Order: sequence, then structure tokens, then C-alpha cells
Amino acid sequence: MSTAVAGKKPWMTDAGPTLGAMREAARALLQANTESVEYEGRSWRYSVPSTGSYPHQWLWDSGFHAIVWSLFDPARGCDELRSLFRWQRPNGLIPHVIFWHPKRAYLHIWPHLESTDRWGLRPGNRPRTTALTQPPVLATAVERLVLAGAEDFLAEALPVLDRYYHYLAAERDPDRDALISTIVQFETGLDFSSAYDQAIGAGPRSVFKLVVNSRRVEIRNKLAGYDLRRIFAREDHAEDLLVNTIWIDNLKALARLARRAGQPDLAAWAETKATQALQSLLERAWDPARGLFFNLVGSGEIRARAKTIQCLLPLLLEDLPADVAERLLAHLTDRREFWSPYPVPSVALDEPSYSDDSHIHGIRLIWRGPCSMNTNWFLHQGLLRHGEAGYASQLADRSRELVEKGGFNEFFDARSGRPVGAKKFGWATLAVDMQSLR
Ligand code: DGY
Repeated sequence: MSTAVAGKKPWMTDAGPTLGAMREAARALLQANTESVEYEGRSWRYSVPSTGSYPHQWLWDSGFHAIVWSLFDPARGCDELRSLFRWQRPNGLIPHVIFWHPKRAYLHIWPHLESTDRWGLRPGNRPRTTALTQPPVLATAVERLVLAGAEDFLAEALPVLDRYYHYLAAERDPDRDALISTIVQFETGLDFSSAYDQAIGAGPRSVFKLVVNSRRVEIRNKLAGYDLRRIFAREDHAEDLLVNTIWIDNLKALARLARRAGQPDLAAWAETKATQALQSLLERAWDPARGLFFNLVGSGEIRARAKTIQCLLPLLLEDLPADVAERLLAHLTDRREFWSPYPVPSVALDEPSYSDDSHIHGIRLIWRGPCSMNTNWFLHQGLLRHGEAGYASQLADRSRELVEKGGFNEFFDARSGRPVGAKKFGWATLAVDMQSLR
């Protein structure tokens, strides 16, 4: 029998970390973050990302929570997605945040800016959802639940996914290159990523401009009534590489689900779209001179210049040509760039904007250096898919260490491993899934 080590997390024992106990801790956290709501005469349940800092339901967070729930309770994972699907709009959009408790949102400015509510900050105005969406991880989440035994969920979820991915293809691809566009950086999930500094005209350390200029885009979107035609007529939109990698990977998952459900037309549509999007990614976003992918901004598709996590993410795609994957791998495993003591930093170590912390001059600006378990989880799979089991295993080990030392935190300092984000954070439990995917 092993005994707990003083000062360490509960799953640390004198015999080292026990994976079973870490799994249990993950389950306990998702359970503790669970909210149950009675609405329209029925009960809904979902996990908030973190009770202190994120008291609502977020789209990609719920996708990740459902994936981890598939390890121990697929039925609970299905509920996580059902509560999100409830809010799908007639045009297919699934909002990025659901305010199940609108009172919690009222006093903050961003829920008003990111929703279509007419009266802005007027008392009594309580948005229910935002008008944005988030990286489309939902087909993967559904697939994981189905493979874990929730076979009946397929018939319920597939029509929702069908409408959602068709919405993205029809409404979010103004230049018809099969890559989808986001209308503000906060839609990418990578809020203050340095990949957007150039587009919003902010220097790497100019906190004021980073905050004001990014929110200015939201003010313009709000004034345009979230009318996509008007928004795409401006130059603020972007084809983000994390979003589009997830888009392509999830189209493949959608195709597999459609085949499983006996829907060959949907499967063929999703496969074709994935192939076209990958082609465009290679033609437009790949920089052969630098050996990295870069975000494309505006209708002129101006390439972002900063080396950020987005530049590496296409490694996730199994159909990426081997020579391209090799170039990405060289950057990923370079100790001066992305292979920090605790990889993978969200911004390369040698970028002027790189920061160890999630705060700059006391202001919280996330995704400017610290690493996160969700991007580690994607890159871990990318390494495995491209035959790099050695690096994949190192990444899984470092990720587990981060969680053992710092708990399930939102972000970690990529050099020292110290936790630098919200505590008890849902998607950090992906570290457990990473251990089972080795
Ligand atoms: C965000 O801030 O957009 C996240 O998804 C919440 O974790």
C-alpha cells in the first residue's frame, strides 16, 4: 500500500504518481465543476471551466470535458454536449458561451459586447448566449462518446453536427477557399495570442493597445449587429490555424460518424471539404522559407509573422505531407523555440512577445507564452500520427508532471512549470486522456 507524500497532490504517493488516482482526481474535478440547471421543464448538466473565473458554459471547454467524461462516464459526457446543443440557432451556429445564469453575466462588459442584445448595458438586459462560436471540436467529442459506448447518442447528435459544420462552411468562408474565418480573436479560444498583435496594431508589450484594440473589433461587430456580411466587408476577420486545423480534423471525424450512421452523402461532403481545406492550408498558409504555417488576416490574407502555437497545430492532421510535418517537428523540438523544459509554450521562447506569465504588468493577457493542456493534447496526437512516439511520450510525461506539481491548472509557465492560470480548470484533465493515448 502506498502513502500520500506531504505537500504533494493527493495522487502523488511515495511510490510515484498513480495514474488511477490521477484519473479519479480528474473525474472529481469535472464533477465538482458540474452545474445542474432546471430549464424548460427539464434538467441540464455541464461543467464550468473553473468555478472562480469561468462561471458559464463554453463550447470548446465542454467538448474537452465530454472527451474526458468518455473515459469514465459516457452518459455524463452526452449531457455535457446536450446542454450546448440546446442553444443551436436555426442557422446552425452553436454559441461559444451559454449564460445559464444570466445574472452572473450582467455586470461584465464582454457578454454584452459578444451578444446580439439590442440594449447594450441597459439594466435588465441579460444575454443568454454570445453571437460567437469557438474551435469546432464537437465532432471529435461525439465520436469519443460513441466509441466509448454511447452508440444511441449518434442519432441524436449527428443532425446537430450536420447543421453546425454546414453553417461553418456556408457562413464562415467568405472567400470560398474551404478555410473558415473567425470574426474576432476571442472566437479562436486563444484570446490575446501574439498571432493577432500585428493585425490589431499593438506592440508585443503594449498592454493598453492589446486590450483596447482587440475589444474595439468587438465593438465594431456589435455595431454591425453581428451581421456577417457587414463584418466580412471589413478586414478584421482571420483564418486562424488552430481553428482551421480543428475544423479539418473534425470534418474527418464527422465523415466517420456519418458513415457509421449510414449517411454516405454527409460523409462524402465532409471528406471533400476536409481535402479542400487542407489543400488551401498548404497553398495559402504554409511558409516554405520559415517551415511554419501562419494565420491569414483579412481578405488580403496577410500572413501573421509571430511564431505562436498556431504555426505548429497542423501537425495534428494525419494527411499532412511528410516533408511538411518534418519541418514543423524541427521547430517543435527546438529548445530555443518550442521545446521548453515544459513544452509546448503558446508563443515561441525566442519571440519578443513571449511571456512566462499569464499577466503582463498586472493585466491578465492569456496565450502569450504559458502552455496549456489542450494544445499539448492536440500536439501529442499529432506526434503519434506522424510516427514520433518518442517525442509524444516526452510530451505526455512533462504534461503529467505539470499536473502532479501544479494541479489541473489553466496554464503553466513553460520554463519553470509553475501554474499561472485559473485553478481547478476542466480541460487540464486532458492530461489523463494523453496518458491513455500513448
Ligand atoms: C475562453 O476564455 O474562451 C475559454 O474557452 C474558457 O476556458
